[in-house]
Amino acid sequence: MSDDRVLIICTSVHHQNTFKIAEALAEELNAKIIKPSEFRGEDLDSYDLIGFGSGIYNGKHHPSLLSLASDLDTQTNKKAFIFSTSTILAKSMHRALKDNLQAKGYQIIGEFCCRGFMNHRFTKYILGGLNKNRPNADDLEEAKQFARKMIEKS
Ligand SMILES: Cc1cc2nc3c(=O)[nH]c(=O)nc-3n(C[C@H](O)[C@H](O)[C@H](O)COP(=O)(O)O)c2cc1C
Repeated sequence: MSDDRVLIICTSVHHQNTFKIAEALAEELNAKIIKPSEFRGEDLDSYDLIGFGSGIYNGKHHPSLLSLASDLDTQTNKKAFIFSTSTILAKSMHRALKDNLQAKGYQIIGEFCCRGFMNHRFTKYILGGLNKNRPNADDLEEAKQFARKMIEKS
């Protein structure tokens, strides 16, 4: 893919776990990373592929990403991918974001999820938190492999 044709919109509020994945993806895709608050609708015309990612909070992506997706202008088959980090791996937690994007005409060409460190509430009493040191180097390599698949598919 030519340079500067991929945009990644990512928010990562708990431990910057998802941001680490966004950086690995961006490195492979020559992508620009922005936060939902930095998004301007007209940006999208300049990009062939858009990645949407955040941590999972109470079974869904971050509310700022979900609301950005529901406010998007309708597109004709714009290609997109979804990514997340979470305690438990389950692509079903991508459902809300996926539904919002598909309702706006986005074609979801891939989904990536990865374990992320979690020490919210009671989990901090379980050996200081769950999924320590995740994402790790192997996770970042998997993210890069996923990015290469996205290049092939787009
Ligand atoms: C308030 C809160 C709610 C969470 N809810 C879930 C959840 O429903 N399912 C899950 O697997 N992980 C859950 N997690 C864990 C996060 O998804 C995980 O730590 C993620 O890596 C955080 O990403 P971030 O550092 O990019 O914000 C939750 C974490 C917090 C702080």
